[in-house]
Amino acid sequence: MIEVRDLNILFGHGKSAIHAVRDATFTVAEGDSYGIVGESGSGKSTILRGLAGLVDDWSGEMLIQGQSLSQRRDKAGRKLLQMVFQDPYGSLHPRRTVNDTLKEPLVIHGFDKVEDRVVDALNEVGLGPQFRFRFPHQLSGGQRQRIAIARALILEPRVVLLDEPTSALDVSVQAEILNLLVRLRASHGLTYLMVSHDLAVVGHLCQRIAVMNRGAIIEEMTDEQMRSGEVQHAYTKQLWVASQGYDLDALSKFMEFE
Ligand SMILES: Nc1ncnc2c1ncn2[C@@H]1O[C@H](COP(=O)(O)OP(=O)(O)O)[C@@H](O)[C@H]1O
Ligand SMILES: [Mg+2]
Repeated sequence: MIEVRDLNILFGHGKSAIHAVRDATFTVAEGDSYGIVGESGSGKSTILRGLAGLVDDWSGEMLIQGQSLSQRRDKAGRKLLQMVFQDPYGSLHPRRTVNDTLKEPLVIHGFDKVEDRVVDALNEVGLGPQFRFRFPHQLSGGQRQRIAIARALILEPRVVLLDEPTSALDVSVQAEILNLLVRLRASHGLTYLMVSHDLAVVGHLCQRIAVMNRGAIIEEMTDEQMRSGEVQHAYTKQLWVASQGYDLDALSKFMEFE
């Protein structure tokens, strides 16, 4: 469903250029959840933004359902793939009601039964119709993220890109949102590509996990290998140890030495 080959993404030109993604290659089968972990600044969001068509300067290959990114600039192609961002506060327009937010993509893409679809979408993310005419400031962080998920799913995409979808939320709410995502993937047969700096979050949702360091994918593993700490690369070991809650200092030292 997703194929990325030798992807390179640069920001800027010449000496000051930032090589944000270096020769990234991975594939995600239909219905799978693929995770990308790595420290802040390692290039995770840039890969997702690349796949979403939000980056200009890239080389390599990006295919969704066998279609190259450059070939699917049409409306149908855009609908196939939706993205959920980290910050549920920034991603919803403060002066638009939930109803406006959910209706807009339906109208743009010419869907019928708009009202019914809005109510169904709210129910699906565990919010009743009573949330329909609220503004973002009348919602909690978790409720906002549920609306952002509803907005992504309302166009019936096949692929959902999740950029740290729970990082801005309290720990108790994180688990609720992750469980919702698991449920929605199963009921809609979705393919997920999720990035996070948190191995535990990715391990909860994904069967295969890539580790990124400074723009490059340095290792790929299964969720079982990750959980048992069966990891190859020294950087991944440090990420893993840090996720066990002991040794965040070791990670920063490791990055300095590498
Ligand atoms: N629009 C941009 N312009 C310039 N540099 C960027 C831009 N977006 C990201 N970068 C840089 O690319 C690198 C990777 O960033 P990002 O993909 O956001 O990392 P992550 O999501 O893993 O934290 C960082 O060095 C970041 O500063
Ligand atoms: Mg990011």
